[in-house]
Amino acid sequence: MLDSGDPCVYGPSLYWLLKGFDYQYLEVIPGISAFNAAGAALKKPMIGEGINFVMLTAPHSMFGRSFEKGDKLLKDFSKYDVTMVFYMALSSMDKLVEKFSKYYPPELPMAIVYYAGYSEKERILKSTLGKILDDLKKTDEKWMGLLIIGKAVKS
Ligand SMILES: C[S@@+](CC[C@H](N)C(=O)[O-])C[C@H]1O[C@@H](n2cnc3c(N)ncnc32)[C@H](O)[C@@H]1O
Repeated sequence: MLDSGDPCVYGPSLYWLLKGFDYQYLEVIPGISAFNAAGAALKKPMIGEGINFVMLTAPHSMFGRSFEKGDKLLKDFSKYDVTMVFYMALSSMDKLVEKFSKYYPPELPMAIVYYAGYSEKERILKSTLGKILDDLKKTDEKWMGLLIIGKAVKS
């Protein structure tokens, strides 16, 4: 079965298609996640130089489908230098900005890497919490982009 990226990071086949599959017949071949391709596109280290850790998540994982949870976690994260990576975030950027604005300043660096690793289509948007919604008015893409937040993506 062929899947895109790292099948262990939001890989749909591992969650759903292989449910109940006998593990003795299963071998997972590691892949390069969008996160790795996006880091390469940005040409920046995602950890180190004062950044304590990297968090991989998605809006629904951290905040719930209706953004009703996750406030305490986000408030706690705001005390650290952490690189936050959000998969599947482009369709809920307005709600994400609302959440982050409670605990972070408008200068918080944000970047979106579109089509990371696709030589013809890869594109980088560098912005900040305060400006990203305006910047996003120029694009319609709601799926193939990875949102990365934190000082690692500062311009
Ligand atoms: C269901 S997840 C699959 C993630 C995949 N397993 C991985 O490791 O990259 C789909 C999300 O991954 C991100 N994504 C996948 N491929 C991407 C790429 N080439 N460039 C940017 N983001 C990508 C997007 O945020 C997209 O909404």
